[in-house]
Amino acid sequence: MRKAGFIFDLDGVIVDTAKYHYLAWRKLANELGFEFTKEQNEMFKGVSRKRCLEILLDIGGVTATTEQFNRWLVEKNEDYLSYIEKMDESEILPDVNRVLSYLKSKDIPISLGSASKNAIPILEKVKLTDYFDTVVDGNHVTKAKPDPEVFLIAAKQLGVLAHNCVVFEDAIAGIEAANNANMVSIGIGDVQVLTEADYVFNNFTEMDASFLDRLIGKVN
Ligand code: BG6
Ligand code: MG
Repeated sequence: MRKAGFIFDLDGVIVDTAKYHYLAWRKLANELGFEFTKEQNEMFKGVSRKRCLEILLDIGGVTATTEQFNRWLVEKNEDYLSYIEKMDESEILPDVNRVLSYLKSKDIPISLGSASKNAIPILEKVKLTDYFDTVVDGNHVTKAKPDPEVFLIAAKQLGVLAHNCVVFEDAIAGIEAANNANMVSIGIGDVQVLTEADYVFNNFTEMDASFLDRLIGKVN
């Protein structure tokens, strides 16, 4: 069995898609007759599409039949996909390419571990597919983060043990999922928010090769 494995969340770690999710949820909220703010959108990070809609409807005090609920899920996603359609490599967050290619140069297996059901088209749009040995996304899981399922499946597919994995995450639920999987958790974002992470960086520009070497040494 190989030793170290590195797992990346997608939204907020590799690409900043939160802004597109926000526009699509806001459009739906407005159609349903209420406002949805950027601050409220923060609650949606790392959260499944279905759960997001439940929270949105709670915010607006809207009750839905199953049929309406499912239709709004489709509507929101179609709108989101219209933004994804226009994405390209310029939307990759700073230094993500550097980190991915450094890990590849060290022969480290890499997986995606995302709640999104749109992960594969997004990776294709930004031309990062080739870095990933395996992709585990919202289509493969039955339990949402903070459940560790997504990361445990990723470890299994990489052929590495959970405690030999490192996870990069921007969401609190994602950090909890990594910790619940007994993996090393690296928060990408605000240190005041990602308090449960083993390490936190504002973004990848702050993460140098010597830190990556130390991480590899830690889990190898
Ligand atoms: C997560 C995002 O990665 O994926 C959430 O942080 C989003 O905001 C979730 O709701 C599901 O995404 P999708 O693409 O399946 O609607
Ligand atoms: Mg995320």
